[in-house]
Amino acid sequence: MKTTFVLFTIFILSLSLTVNAQDGALLYGQNCASCHGANLGGGNATSLVDGIWQFGAENGYVFRNIKFGIPHLGMPSYEATLSDGDINAIISYIRESENKVGAKKPPIAKEMETMDYKMDVEIFAEGLEVPWAIDFMDKNTALITERPGRLRIVKNGILLDEPVKNTPEVLNQGQGGLMDVAVDPDFKENGWIYLAYSHVLTSGYDGNRPPAMTRIVRGKIENNSWTNEEVLFEAPHDTYRTTRHHYGCRIVFDPEGHLFFAIGDRGAGYQAQDFTLPNGKVHRIFKDGSIPEDNPFVNEEGAMKSLFSLGNRNIQGMAVHPETGELWTTEHGPLGGDELNRIESGKNYGWETITYGKNYNGTIITEETHRPDMEQPNLYWRPSIAVCGLDFYRGDLFSKWKNKLLVGALKYEEVRLLQIEGDNVIHEEVIVKNQGRVRDVSTGPEGAIYVVLNNPGTVIKLTPQ
Ligand code: HEC
Repeated sequence: MKTTFVLFTIFILSLSLTVNAQDGALLYGQNCASCHGANLGGGNATSLVDGIWQFGAENGYVFRNIKFGIPHLGMPSYEATLSDGDINAIISYIRESENKVGAKKPPIAKEMETMDYKMDVEIFAEGLEVPWAIDFMDKNTALITERPGRLRIVKNGILLDEPVKNTPEVLNQGQGGLMDVAVDPDFKENGWIYLAYSHVLTSGYDGNRPPAMTRIVRGKIENNSWTNEEVLFEAPHDTYRTTRHHYGCRIVFDPEGHLFFAIGDRGAGYQAQDFTLPNGKVHRIFKDGSIPEDNPFVNEEGAMKSLFSLGNRNIQGMAVHPETGELWTTEHGPLGGDELNRIESGKNYGWETITYGKNYNGTIITEETHRPDMEQPNLYWRPSIAVCGLDFYRGDLFSKWKNKLLVGALKYEEVRLLQIEGDNVIHEEVIVKNQGRVRDVSTGPEGAIYVVLNNPGTVIKLTPQ
């Protein structure tokens, strides 16, 4: 096995030195055809022209998969033998061939099978632009955010044409925009709805990249218009950053009336350890924006009073356990470092001092994976699946799944079901695959599971047969 691998490496090494680096078809024939088929239609390994990309469809993902390989499945790494130009030439060839065979993503499945259930799949809403989150005002009314800055309503199963008017202006650039929507647990009595979005400073910044940060507001919807807005969290303006990625952000509530949200590191990993800054942290406030007296850093000089935990790279999945009230999160790690964590008050989750991941260009961030004063993840995914959206299943329809964790994944286009006992994940099953990039997953009011997809911008509804 080892000898074959060495011979194989020498084989591709010598080849790649002699071929014309620009010729994607030739490079493909020499390096890839033996597994993916002479016509790219598959052989021992999957077809590269059927429109199904299990490990990410976009060029960036395809590039990474070729450069770094998918070692646990036998897809070799070409880091040592192909230049970035060679890899791009091969990708151009793959794209050209895809067009020739007319590869199209298959339509969304009508049913799916899992270990416990056969599920019916219904299209709940479609034609959305980067839908990001879903929550329910009542059993007939859903709210869906679209990242460019629209809050949409689905009423009795129909997506209303007109978005809610007067919602806050968002910075729709990079990973930023309108992110989470969360309906107050006491919505029936108080009517509050919470939003998380990228807030940009305009006045006083003439440059073309004004700084931005995640901001949390609440408001009410009257006559299809956003009103009564209150700003619950706005970071000091000198902490805003000109980067356009890693904003987080999810909003969840615990039974004691706390509101949790997370802000990503905003591209500055080292700042995730600095308690004077908002980024790379989980925050805890009350629903009116006030600070709980027992927050872990309230008595630390210079610390932000809203902080709840440190060292979180970019959390885009958050859920509170319906029975224990524990807070669980999923966080985008670097390459090979996506994490599931149970978040406890005042603890440090390590980023970027310790991590299981590497930089996306393959360089090392740190060799350290453990420190005594830092928490280990409950689970980490290597390779990264691009975790996004998280919920404990809270309904009765899928009774075998009660209190199990639903984990969305963008890149792998998956929803996974995790069974947790104590601190350990004891079982993991993929229950949705290849329907689109999963941005959010949520238990609906009557126990159906709603999955928010990007590419296509669709929300699907799952019920057991
Ligand atoms: C030794 C066999 C082998 C060779 C050689 C090989 N691959 Fe792969 N490749 C795999 C396997 C196995 C997978 C995982 C998917 C599967 O099970 O088929 C994979 C997956 C991939 C994926 C991810 C597909 C997806 O669905 O997301 C891409 C892209 C890819 N290969 C491109 C290439 C390219 C380009 C080359 C040549 C430079 C190449 N592979 C050479 C075995 C191989």
